[in-house]
Amino acid sequence: MKITPLHSRFAACVQGIDCSAQLASPAVSEVLAALDQHSVLIFPQQDLTPADQVRFSSYFGPLEQAITRMGDDDVARQIALLSNVNDDGTLRSISDRKMLFHRGNEMWHTDSTYKPQTALASLLYAVEVPPSGGQTHFASTRAAYADLDDERKALVDEGFATHSLAYSRAKVAQDLMSDELKKSLPPVERPLVRSNPATGDRSLYIASHAFAVRGMNEQAGLSLISQLLDWCTREEYVYRHDWQVGDLVMWDNRSTLHRATPFDAATHRRVMRRSTVIDAQYMASLAA
Ligand code: OGA
Ligand code: MN
Repeated sequence: MKITPLHSRFAACVQGIDCSAQLASPAVSEVLAALDQHSVLIFPQQDLTPADQVRFSSYFGPLEQAITRMGDDDVARQIALLSNVNDDGTLRSISDRKMLFHRGNEMWHTDSTYKPQTALASLLYAVEVPPSGGQTHFASTRAAYADLDDERKALVDEGFATHSLAYSRAKVAQDLMSDELKKSLPPVERPLVRSNPATGDRSLYIASHAFAVRGMNEQAGLSLISQLLDWCTREEYVYRHDWQVGDLVMWDNRSTLHRATPFDAATHRRVMRRSTVIDAQYMASLAA
């Protein structure tokens, strides 16, 4: 594997690996070590079926069942389909509920903070990309944490925030979530800072889904969350990914934020598939 950094603080391009092939365990460890070090890994020029993507992703842990799943079989249930194309090939109306649901991805977030089981990594694969727009932006919350002054670190180190998908999706439009989906995803408290058990590196852990901070009144909590999001997403912590068809991008949800950016969805096609690895080690540590 050849690993080339793409930014001074995080993100790297990984060449010399075929993600559709069987991976031996030393190679899996090598990828995980690269993820620990760089937080965002770009694997260009991959050619992956949904089953290949699920196989590769599963080397890193158990996979989530997706909310906007691709289909009902075992593979498709583990893949979130982000697409503006209908089954008949026509473009989806931009006011379509599915489209609005994905507009929520344009707010800075990290995946699945609001789920009963948080996510270690996400893997997003580009099937079709628009000629312009539709970049994904990533921010290093590890670099952002490292640069906090001691007073701020002390403030966030023992803190907790409450996360809810209903909260972040309500910012896009009311009623994007069915009552059943809302009920299955009650608000959940998560620490404001996560540490990587392999490296000890600490990172801020916040998202558009966060809306309350333990021990603070509503306004103070919202204000702290918004200040932290602003801090983490300053220019120096941001890597912008311009997608090429065949890119597989894997990111560490514990140490990064990301957001989708708009594109001309009324004219161009964008089809992406995401698989998400559950943070099984962290969930086990909470249960212990
Ligand atoms: C995601 C996501 C961003 C994008 O799949 O989790 O936020 O650019 N995607 O599609
Ligand atoms: Mn996301």
